[in-house]
Parts: sequence; C-alpha cells; structure tokens
Amino acid sequence: MKDFIALRDYSQDELRAILDLATVLKRELREGSVNHQKLKGKVLGMIFEKSSTRTRVSFETGIFQLGGMGLFLSSADIQMGRGEPIKDTAQVLSRYVDAIMIRTFAHSTVEELARHATIPVINGLSDLLHPCQVLSDMLTMMEYSGGKTLDQVKIAYIGDGNNMANSLLYGAATVGYNIAVASPSGYTIPADIIRDCQSRATKLGVDIVLGDDPAAAIKDADFVYTDVWASMGQESEQAKRVAAFANYTVTADLMKLAKPDAKFMHCLPAHRGEEVSAEVCDGPQSIIYDQAENRLHAQKAVMVHLMA
Ligand code: CP
Ligand code: NVA
Repeated sequence: MKDFIALRDYSQDELRAILDLATVLKRELREGSVNHQKLKGKVLGMIFEKSSTRTRVSFETGIFQLGGMGLFLSSADIQMGRGEPIKDTAQVLSRYVDAIMIRTFAHSTVEELARHATIPVINGLSDLLHPCQVLSDMLTMMEYSGGKTLDQVKIAYIGDGNNMANSLLYGAATVGYNIAVASPSGYTIPADIIRDCQSRATKLGVDIVLGDDPAAAIKDADFVYTDVWASMGQESEQAKRVAAFANYTVTADLMKLAKPDAKFMHCLPAHRGEEVSAEVCDGPQSIIYDQAENRLHAQKAVMVHLMA
C-alpha cells in the first residue's frame, strides 16, 4: 500500500505518470467530460490541525468530481485534538474510509499515522514538507515552460528554508529541474535535506545552488518562487522574521534580473508588502491563481493513483 507523504519516496517515472494523469483529468474537466466513476463510492478523511483554503477545497471538490466524498475532520472536533493516540485514530479511520489526508505540525505525526493506517495517507502539509503543493507546481511549470522540458528550466526560490523550500528542493531532485535558493543565515534548508537532494540531483543532471543573495539566485530564472516569512505555527516569531528577511522581498526591480518572460509563483496565502510586493504578486508575470487551480487537478491524480 502506497502513501503520498514525501516526493523523495517516488521515482521520476511515477511522478511523471501522476502529472500526465493530472493533465488528462484537467482537460476532461475543461471539456465537461467529468468521469465520476474513477473513485465512485470512495471516502477521503481529511484531518486538519492547521487552517487551509486551497488544500481543503481542492481535495474535497476533487474527490467529489471523481465520484467519492471528502470528510472534513477538524482536530478541534475529533478526539485526536483531545489527545486520542494517533495509532487509534489511524486504525479506526482505516475501518471507515479509503484514504486519509492530514495537515499537521510535526512531520512525524504524518509518518506515525501512515505506519498504523491500513489505507493510503496523503501529506497535506507538515512543518517539514508540502509535497501536494510542489506536485501541482510542477504541472504549472510544465504548462508555462514554453515547450522546454522541466530539466531545462530554472526556478529561483527567495525566502525561508521552510516546508515549501524543502519540497521544492525534493522536486528538483526527483522530477528534475534546476533550482537556486537564497535564504538568510539561520533560515536555510536543513543540511541533511540539502545533502540528500544534491546527490539525487547530480544523478539527474540538474543543478541545486544554495546561497544568501537573492540577486544571484534569481539571475536567468524562468520561475521565481517565494513563500511567507512566518509559517503556520511560527506566528510568535513574526517580528523577528520580518527583520531577518528585510532584503528578501521579491520586488519588480528584483524580477528584472530574472529572464524577461519569467513567471512569479507563490503557494499562497501571500503577504503583499512582505515576501512579495503587490506590484509583482498582482502583476502580469504572476501565475499564482493557475498554481492554485492546479492543486485540484494534481491531487485528483494522486487520489486516483492511490485509491483506484
Ligand atoms: N497553498 C496551500 O496549501 O494553501 P492552504 O493553506 O490554503 O491550503
Ligand atoms: N510555509 C507555509 C505554507 C502554507 C501553504 C506554512 O507552512 O504556513
């Protein structure tokens, strides 16, 4: 039985097959030929220990379009939020539903849930990784790469070495695209992830470059990506982080150093005036809403891959 917890657990061929399926499902939906049979009668339990707009709505809508249904399980309402062991939650939900999606804090919670569940578990974001977002972003980059294959494009990530940065690095190391990351010291991607990704990327023939200079990272980039400076759970560090990231705003001037037709990407929610200027976030180079839409198509493909 397979889970979708981390991109590193998947081969390049498997991820490409899921992305191809996402492209087909997207086209079918656009043409109005929705196939409600693929996951007919299946139920996805969706545990949320953190807020969500995109993840919740795209999973719930996606499973419905495939013929099944999603169950929104807020940790404020289920017994897990009152301390029921993860093991018991995993075992019991496995008797009712066909797969579990979880958004939580510690990555070990996702892994523990998967260890005890007898059904597939999907990581809908942990403090460490956000694989569903990066899978969707790969689909978006394929659509906007102007005929180039992903191994021919460069993405620049400017900002915090957080769950998004970690997963973007794993995306480079699994599907294969070039990436340059600029983060201030003290906020870099963990060293073990860098080591793991660099050795995988070398085998794929793509470059991973790390540094602290946004201008150097963004040079000749096809895609420029950023994320919030304080992630969910780090709200108390907001002021300290705003100071540490002062020179890391993606502005129109910084965008000029990327390729002239470079696209701006953000997983959302965005803080205009912090990690990105409103001019860039809402400007002609921004593809943030296409990214958000692709959560639906990519995750439908993940669910078909795991649950059909
Ligand atoms: N990008 C993302 O995961 O958005 P939500 O927090 O709204 O789910
Ligand atoms: N890094 C952000 C991503 C939100 C989708 C967070 O974890 O809050």
